[in-house]
Amino acid sequence: MAGTYRVTVEPLGKEVECAEDQPILEACLRAGVWLPHSCTHGTCGTCKAEVLDGDVDHGAASSFALLDFERDEGKALLCCAMPRSDVTIEGDVDAEEGVVFHPVRDFVGTVTVLEDVAVDTRRLVLELDQEIDFNPGQYVQVTVPGKDVVRTYSIASPPSQRNSIELHIRRTPGGLASDGWIFATLAEGDRVNLAGPYGNFFLREEREEPAVLIAGGTGLAPMKSMIRHVLEGDCDRTITLYQGARTVDHLYDQEFFTALAERHPDRFVYRPCLSEEDREGYLAGTVLDVLDRDKPTLSGHVGYLCGPPAMVEAAMRVLMGKRLFPRDIYREDFLDEAAKAAGTGVRSPLLKR
Ligand SMILES: Cc1cc2nc3c(=O)[nH]c(=O)nc-3n(C[C@H](O)[C@H](O)[C@H](O)COP(=O)(O)OP(=O)(O)OC[C@H]3O[C@@H](n4cnc5c(N)ncnc54)[C@H](O)[C@@H]3O)c2cc1C
Ligand code: FES
Repeated sequence: MAGTYRVTVEPLGKEVECAEDQPILEACLRAGVWLPHSCTHGTCGTCKAEVLDGDVDHGAASSFALLDFERDEGKALLCCAMPRSDVTIEGDVDAEEGVVFHPVRDFVGTVTVLEDVAVDTRRLVLELDQEIDFNPGQYVQVTVPGKDVVRTYSIASPPSQRNSIELHIRRTPGGLASDGWIFATLAEGDRVNLAGPYGNFFLREEREEPAVLIAGGTGLAPMKSMIRHVLEGDCDRTITLYQGARTVDHLYDQEFFTALAERHPDRFVYRPCLSEEDREGYLAGTVLDVLDRDKPTLSGHVGYLCGPPAMVEAAMRVLMGKRLFPRDIYREDFLDEAAKAAGTGVRSPLLKR
């Protein structure tokens, strides 16, 4: 059995038990001690922290996200680092006002819906063995059966729905979880191990500015959770969703969002965009082309971006060009193993969320 060590999180002075084969971030999130993180697989660098005392094994940290000299200076990626003694770390623990974080827990989900919704895109609904609490936009880690690996998928259902979660999965050719399992052998009735909630990308309830949501592919999932959450409540914040795909066959849930927009004309605007097909009822161009035509400036807005990292990066630049500051933009990059190997997912240390 693995030994355990004590991790002290400064400047909070909180102490957490951490097994020697458990990432420090994981132990903290399970104990209700929130620390910033995004990908949870050693790729983005968001969880970088100072090890003030003690030894850690850096695990699977990417050498791009944690450079050699940073290791030498005593830094670690907490989503990968495992303790080799009692450890004291200095985390970036500044809590955001009004945000309640929910501790990570384990769940067993039973597949109740598994359907193809667009080209290479599946909707998966899992009925959970216990109720889950999360902030809209957060994600779960799903264990790939028979392999010692997890993959991360954003929750598309709203937090009010606590007994089941909806996930949207895109097939990556040759991908272990998607191509090798979810699109191959997974079936209704199967049981799936998962843990959550994780992630810094969630709706900031305290920000009442009009919100612009930009989703590429299955980047729609966390946006769907946020939109449903807002529209279930009675706050009068307005949301515009830009949903992008190449052709109509790559787009999904249009009927759902069109109906929502008809039901909430003052609060929700839906902009489905097709970059490679002209079709009535859809806007021509990428989400960024359409946004550019729609909004000369975004001053006074807040932006949420999610999807493939290249799209998110391009959207970040467009939003900043339209007078949004980094503090007004929240992003989730769907970083995978290829991004980790290539070092393309490392966040600027100036971007904390
Ligand atoms: C916070 C977050 C939320 C996410 N949410 C979603 C979501 O809601 N929906 C969704 O569809 N996806 C989401 N993703 C992406 C998802 O987690 C997986 O990365 C994706 O499904 C691919 O997993 P896979 O096991 O199928 O492919 P993998 O086996 O991980 O392979 C992915 C790619 O990497 C390549 N690769 C694998 N190993 C290596 C290696 N060692 N060196 C170089 N290249 C390698 C493969 O050839 C392939 O091209 C999210 C990612 C993050 C970080
Ligand atoms: S959360 Fe640790 S590197 Fe991304």
